[in-house]
Amino acid sequence: MNIKYYDAVVVGGGGAGLRTAIEIARDPKVKVALVSKVYPTRSHTGAAQGGMNAALGNVVPDDSPEAHAYDTIKGSDFLADQDAVFFMTENAPDIIYELDRWGVPFSRLPDGRIAQRPFGGASFPRTVYAADKTGHALLHTLFEQALSKDNIDFYNEFFLLDLIHDGERVKGVSVYDIRNGEVITLGAKAVVLATGGFARIYWFRSTNAIGNTGDGQAVAFRNGIPLKDIEFIQFHPTGLAKTGILLSEACRGEGGYLINRLGERFMKRYAPEKMELAPRDMVSRAIEYEIREGRGVGEGARAYVYLDLRHLGEERINERLPQVRQLAIDFEGVDPVKDLVPIRPTAHYCMGGIHVTDYRTSETPMKGLYAIGECACVSVHGANRLGGNSLIELLVFGKFGGMAVREFVREERMPEISEIEARKGKELIENLMKREGNENLARIRTQMGEITWQKVGIFRDERSLKEAYEDLSELLERWERIPVVDKSKIFNTNLIEVLELRNMLELARAVAFAALHRRESRGGHTREDYPERDDENFLKHSLVYHDGGKLRIEYVPVRITKFQPAERKY
Ligand code: FUM
Repeated sequence: MNIKYYDAVVVGGGGAGLRTAIEIARDPKVKVALVSKVYPTRSHTGAAQGGMNAALGNVVPDDSPEAHAYDTIKGSDFLADQDAVFFMTENAPDIIYELDRWGVPFSRLPDGRIAQRPFGGASFPRTVYAADKTGHALLHTLFEQALSKDNIDFYNEFFLLDLIHDGERVKGVSVYDIRNGEVITLGAKAVVLATGGFARIYWFRSTNAIGNTGDGQAVAFRNGIPLKDIEFIQFHPTGLAKTGILLSEACRGEGGYLINRLGERFMKRYAPEKMELAPRDMVSRAIEYEIREGRGVGEGARAYVYLDLRHLGEERINERLPQVRQLAIDFEGVDPVKDLVPIRPTAHYCMGGIHVTDYRTSETPMKGLYAIGECACVSVHGANRLGGNSLIELLVFGKFGGMAVREFVREERMPEISEIEARKGKELIENLMKREGNENLARIRTQMGEITWQKVGIFRDERSLKEAYEDLSELLERWERIPVVDKSKIFNTNLIEVLELRNMLELARAVAFAALHRRESRGGHTREDYPERDDENFLKHSLVYHDGGKLRIEYVPVRITKFQPAERKY
């Protein structure tokens, strides 16, 4: 039996996993394993462009953590837990200064202080940034910090197969070594899931890396942990038209316009005050309304509107938006310095995730199991996340969650893992490799992408969601008949894709299920058959349970401490 024991295992090598591991490892006696599906510097955090929010008040001194909290809660359509939001916004400034000391190359004001740019739904310029490569700079800095800790062992290119637990407490994980096909067991007093989002369920139009398949959420879900507010998916307004690749909100923060086929800045119809800097749910819907009403360019799935950056000038674009310029040139064949850029909303972020029961520690309902970052639902984003609040979330909760784990493992004894428990992961792989069947991986994935986009997209209704739930249930059954055609052990990407597809199908079905039950419109969840927000019946978090494949829903209250729900106007 190949079992290695650690005090804590962190699954996920992006910003959330790295920040958490760094914090746990501050005690040199605590042994940490960091497991990552990809080499950590290839994690999806590197794709974050525009920046992260903290009320430093460097541009407008009136900004404050309370203003940041209010904007976040209003942006969330009042579904965020307000105590958790305040915890994030109050701790955000120190986190930024810590990163500054660690070496993140933040863009600067002329006097040397950290620069801040406007972002959607924010009352002040609050988003700190490193040009439009903020996530890349952050990821590399965190990786350096993690590498400097002798008590972190890296398991790079290992895939999470399952949790090991006794129903009450977690005991470890089984993981698959992608490099050689070996299955190993990592026993631990604490396991932290930090595996990122799953917006790849929108297979054809997503800003997400191919690997964002929700492995941590799916594994937790199958093991009895509920998914909270999973129906809320964020569509980023400015995906490149042909590919869905992200063009940062920083484009609009720096002053870019959105215009329709007639050359109108159409946001005046939808958010007359904030215009292009309204929150993402509103801007994405506005673009789709323009297209529906014939003011977009082209029709159907290929239609788009324009992002206009030309008035910013070449110098500013090169200084603040160099990656955006290159992406537009490489993937759309247009140069924003002189051309309009065709854009359309694209799946970007999952507001929901693994149910966290205490925002101060990031604990889940299972003893010893923690969740951090996009795979978790704390909840600070509610029904719609503000741009720039994702990186700051994973940093704040990574730090405090890491502290909690460090304390927990000091007091806890090492669990024992039986031979039967340790063999489960190996058996899963052996059975998969032997499996026969006539279904095709790519075909089922394609069908999943069509169903999610058409039936669980920006606009939803009872019929489309019921169909999506049934269609996705059928795809899950068909998944059982997908053979792994590549029988090799070394970098068997066919096997990994089969495993990832199951995770995506489970999560996509949970999204459709929770969306079907939420008969109101709130934030990123727009029900055309229930167009109004319904606080009387739905000001509550959903919890979806797997229950052996027969999904079940419950609700828990939203924690409202300071700001009473009000109509959102921008
Ligand atoms: O638009 C962006 O740069 C993305 C930021 C975010 O999702 O927070």
